[in-house]
Amino acid sequence: MQQRLQKLIATAGIASRRHAEELISAGHVSVNGRVVTELGTKADPDTDHIKVNGRLINPQLAQRVNVYVLLNKPRGYLTSVSDPEGRPLVVDLIPPSLGRLHPVGRLDFNTEGLLLLTNDGEFTNLITSARNQIPKVYKARVQGTPSDKAIDRLRRGVLIGEGESTAPAEVRRLRSSESNSWFEVVLHEGRNQQVRRMFDAIGHSVVRLKRIRIGDLEDQNLRTGEWRTLTAIEVKRFKKPRKVKPETDRRRVRVVRR
Ligand code: URA
Repeated sequence: MQQRLQKLIATAGIASRRHAEELISAGHVSVNGRVVTELGTKADPDTDHIKVNGRLINPQLAQRVNVYVLLNKPRGYLTSVSDPEGRPLVVDLIPPSLGRLHPVGRLDFNTEGLLLLTNDGEFTNLITSARNQIPKVYKARVQGTPSDKAIDRLRRGVLIGEGESTAPAEVRRLRSSESNSWFEVVLHEGRNQQVRRMFDAIGHSVVRLKRIRIGDLEDQNLRTGEWRTLTAIEVKRFKKPRKVKPETDRRRVRVVRR
């Protein structure tokens, strides 16, 4: 059956659909020996030879088993599959026997906590799509003691760059000492370095940041640097978030909004 090339590349686990589109536009994809750069071009994996960077992807499409991994990322690891500077990579923490996996979304080099990895480009596309903003929960230690008024600014949305404001967020103070304060932050969007830039905007830099939940997924038994595969139910929950009445759970209502 004919399918769009970007979908086939994503299904083969080579890249997310968005990245697959970039590969096509940049001339890295060929069908039956001819380079294809037009997005939306279709091919049939049963009859056409589809190559990405000169490598045939038909065998991957035929044999593929989807793998979904939850990693508790340590600080000092890059959320990437490669790095020209040779820094430690999150994929180095996963055994090669699980195949070639890519991270779903991103955590900064010095952010720790839960990170999904998979070979399923369609899954990545679903989780990272701007339409499907799965809430992500972070625990942040920040410098000093922000006032309640400053925290209210974060809750309402704050300017974090030129013309760039954040959407309303849930921010809960966990505790404060003389030199530091701890907060739980629930974000429904994923801007670059968002938590750090939010606290920078109120003059209290983040000194430690950990993601503790992605949607409904959390795991307090997974130690830093450890990983596990997702259960079939956990994968399904991401694909079909439960519908919850608005008056009973506002957070989950955002999950099902598509
Ligand atoms: N917000 C940040 O500032 N960094 C992350 O890694 C994730 C969210």
